[in-house]
Amino acid sequence: MVRIGLLTSGGDCQALNATMRGIVKTVINLSTEPVEIYGFEDGYQGMIYKRYRKMSPSDFSGILTRGGTILGTSRTPFKRLDTPEADGVDKVAAMKETYRDLKLDCLFMLGGNGSTKTANRLRAEGLSVIALPKTIDNDTWGTDLTFGFTSAVEIATKCIDDIRTTASSHGRVFVIEIMGHKVGWIPLYAAVAGGADACLIPEIPYDMDNVIAAIDRRMQAGARFTIIVVAEGAISRDEARLSKREYKKLVAERTSPSIVYDIAREIETRTGRETRVAIPGHTQRGGQPDAQDRVFATQCGVEAALGFLEGESGFMVAQRSGKMCRVPLEEVAGKLKYVDPGSDLVREARFLGISFGDEA
Ligand code: F6P
Repeated sequence: MVRIGLLTSGGDCQALNATMRGIVKTVINLSTEPVEIYGFEDGYQGMIYKRYRKMSPSDFSGILTRGGTILGTSRTPFKRLDTPEADGVDKVAAMKETYRDLKLDCLFMLGGNGSTKTANRLRAEGLSVIALPKTIDNDTWGTDLTFGFTSAVEIATKCIDDIRTTASSHGRVFVIEIMGHKVGWIPLYAAVAGGADACLIPEIPYDMDNVIAAIDRRMQAGARFTIIVVAEGAISRDEARLSKREYKKLVAERTSPSIVYDIAREIETRTGRETRVAIPGHTQRGGQPDAQDRVFATQCGVEAALGFLEGESGFMVAQRSGKMCRVPLEEVAGKLKYVDPGSDLVREARFLGISFGDEA
């Protein structure tokens, strides 16, 4: 008998179900022994509080195209793993106990950076864990791609496409906030795919003078509208000079729910152009996975299952230069992958005239 556990952790994304389907189908099809599958509800919470269900292969049929996660997810216990819960539960000890009680041979954990850190801790505690790189943000170290990313880019791009028609009708400036947490992968790809005029990302601190100059140049050249993509984590040059503590204080003191409102207000005041804000928000994590995500999620699931069947664990599935591979969990746990400001795509975007707000 082979016993596997599955959990989805952190913010959801479109290709979680497709990934689990890939794991389960492969293990069942290739295992020489009967397989028992346990699905933990709401991420690590399910392991801590023994909320799990025994699942059958049919639970994983027809879910390739379904967004979200059939198991539910949550963000605990990323913070303060060693601090007991309010009810006194020792999280690590509880998860170890659940794993041992169910006699699991492996835990497949679909999660991003914080979740990978927890997975690595469980590995260090002696559990067999295999991580799969989930996040729309594409910010997981050690892999070129994460599942969820291309679907989110697709939605962010569609948002830019839709805004373009109304921006053009009214001759307005639009500031569009795109998700990505502390990195600029989704905004960068969506800005290029959607033909934005400016793209402000955390990796390239902007100067409002340069953003205003870029808008003025466009307008003087006869353009009726301007589209500015702003990463939710974008920072100005002045903010980039602050210490971590000072920056946190500044963010906490902001009266607007998002930096895009401040940016839009400044643009309207300084250019005299009507300026509006658009925020696709969590729609970027919603709906069905796109075709590329379905393929990549499946590849991740298969690779994780193969690793398990070959007796390996303690790794995260990754794709590097188009090849699927396995990287040690301890090498990647909790590390962020940023956009390289000198990368080809940033350079190419500049050639197209996309301003990053760092050059006059
Ligand atoms: O990590 C995915 C993500 O959607 C980020 O892009 C965003 O910063 C964050 O999650 C939003 O988190 P929540 O769903 O908890 O509001």
